[in-house]
Amino acid sequence: MNSILETNFDFKGQVGTIYHGKVRDVYNILDRYLVMVVTDRISAFDNVLPQGIPHKGQVLNQISCALMDKTDDICPNWKIISPDPMVTIGYKADPFMVEMVIRGYLTGHAWREYKAGKRSICGVNMPDGMIENQKFETPIITPTTKAVKGHDEDISKEDIISHDLVSESDYAVLEDYTTKLFARGTEIADGMGLILVDTKYEFGLVDDKIVLIDEVHTPDSSRYFIKKGYEERQERGEKQRQLSKEFVREWLMDRGYQGEEGQKIPVMSEKFVNEVSERYIELYNKILNEKFEPHMMNETSAKERIFKNVSEFVNAL
Ligand SMILES: Nc1ncnc2c1ncn2[C@@H]1O[C@H](COP(=O)(O)OP(=O)(O)O)[C@@H](O)[C@H]1O
Ligand SMILES: [Mg+2]
Repeated sequence: MNSILETNFDFKGQVGTIYHGKVRDVYNILDRYLVMVVTDRISAFDNVLPQGIPHKGQVLNQISCALMDKTDDICPNWKIISPDPMVTIGYKADPFMVEMVIRGYLTGHAWREYKAGKRSICGVNMPDGMIENQKFETPIITPTTKAVKGHDEDISKEDIISHDLVSESDYAVLEDYTTKLFARGTEIADGMGLILVDTKYEFGLVDDKIVLIDEVHTPDSSRYFIKKGYEERQERGEKQRQLSKEFVREWLMDRGYQGEEGQKIPVMSEKFVNEVSERYIELYNKILNEKFEPHMMNETSAKERIFKNVSEFVNAL
């Protein structure tokens, strides 16, 4: 199998247990640093699918790293170094328990709510008469809680502050960073012929400073449309061309899967797995304007490479 589904390394200075997230394996080093190995796992509707997507980990890690570097003038981030195509090492933060979702277009969950008759989401009003994938006049911030297990829930700014998830003054900073990061992401995407539809950011505190953590503008945390033909497709009432996980979500929904308890996850054919892999690579090529160089030859050698590359950094701490 040319993909990494799970890692179980033992690095120098490693403390606590390995956190196997939906996509990433997170190693705590000396309670000060995190080693984040981006695996080839794919999740949809908050569930990990049984099959891996070749090259997905590398695509995600490299997009995120490049975009962290292209946004660090707006807001500081947790990244120190990417010692391996599938790994980022950075500062361990104390995360805020919210995810800052920002939407430039009426798509996905927001559209499903709108279609069901709702005209307000997370306390933000949406005008009448909008259609699916229509652009909002200005992007709207629709935060969610950051669930330890299970689904994240929509939450309003007022509730975030009144429940003390984030203080009012910190929230103002998160909002400001979210708006500016999204504007930068939109600009970068636009330059590459893409539309950044929506995304989510996570923030945390490192030495009392607010920093961007996790990933940024990756196809897992964001939706992208192809810019060319967007207007025409809207006018004709056609679907937009998506370069993101929405493609996988739709495939699953077509097979009756919505991530609900008791539902069986449909098995992806090899052909579909490869198609998904190609979409991730296509997005890499587009967003970074660089040809993707695959580093995954086989699982065993990739794991040896990761261990060696990470060790070089952590052994010197
Ligand atoms: N710098 C950081 N400090 C602390 N936690 C972080 C940092 N960056 C990312 N994380 C957390 O690491 C995890 C990354 O793994 P992921 O596969 O996204 O898992 P999850 O299933 O929790 O979303 C997330 O829970 C994310 O909040
Ligand atoms: Mg996550």
